[in-house]
Amino acid sequence: MNPCYGANAPVPSRARRRGGPVGAARRAGLGVAETAAGAWRCGCGAVAVAVAVAWPAWRDGGVHALDTLGGVAIAQIYPSLLAADFARIADAALVVEGRADWLHVDVMDYHFVPNLAFSGDTVTALRSVTDIPLDCHLMIEDPDRWAPGFAERGAANVTIHAEAVDNLPATTAAIRAEGARTGLAVKPATPVEHYLDDLHRFDLLLLMTIDPGFGGQKFMDSVLPKIEAARRLLDERDLDLWLQIDGGVNAETIERAAAAGVDVFVAGTAVYGAADPAAAVEALRAQALRAAPRLRPPAREAAG
Ligand code: DX5
Ligand code: ZN
Repeated sequence: MNPCYGANAPVPSRARRRGGPVGAARRAGLGVAETAAGAWRCGCGAVAVAVAVAWPAWRDGGVHALDTLGGVAIAQIYPSLLAADFARIADAALVVEGRADWLHVDVMDYHFVPNLAFSGDTVTALRSVTDIPLDCHLMIEDPDRWAPGFAERGAANVTIHAEAVDNLPATTAAIRAEGARTGLAVKPATPVEHYLDDLHRFDLLLLMTIDPGFGGQKFMDSVLPKIEAARRLLDERDLDLWLQIDGGVNAETIERAAAAGVDVFVAGTAVYGAADPAAAVEALRAQALRAAPRLRPPAREAAG
């Protein structure tokens, strides 16, 4: 286990539910980007440092990760394991430890999308080999039934698709009750405006920049105006959701996405297709930072 991710280590769900410092850090989504502020050159004191950083920001029943950073958004890179060698998933997680903010885990059911990938068992297995927070992207039908189980198994964020969910209030409440963050994903053709009254139920908004189902697709530039509009909407309404994109993120596309207002970038092929995945994470982050003055590096990097 890498003690840098200590604040996100598995804890019993009942303990997470009421928070406490470790649960609070996890629920607030504090991965490498925030909790490792003083623990980057870490030893086993990382948990204590992370708790000290995270505790003042915690508020029962609310997730306000940006509050912890004075309103500054962190440029976060989430490698997507869908692009990893499936025979070496654990290695793929470990190779980006200390570089990736979180890991993106795609869950597909052959119904919502014409592909099959990862499951709750994947979450359990990954939690036994790494403390990197897991971002589960559920491309499945009936997320109302299945999503809370991913949180129960230790996912730090569970994203459900707007096109698939039936009872948004109940499902998001069930995810949060297990101590995880909640994400709302929309396909490129699905307007965010339909969900304005529900955004407060979420901690992350995922705007798909491809049609979901497969990695290695071309980034859809047609989504850029939607990203800009979402950024304005979140800012104007003072909603501190993280704005994430997924699909076709690479060295050619990340800068215009960052400039449009994204702060969380999922990247599969661009990370695991690279000779050095950890270096690819840092290179992508550097590009995002150059393109968007509003973004800041993770605290460990800001501290040098
Ligand atoms: C596809 C998945 C993506 C995928 C992205 O539906 O949701 O997370 O892994 O892969 P790239 O980065 O290769 O487009
Ligand atoms: Zn995904």
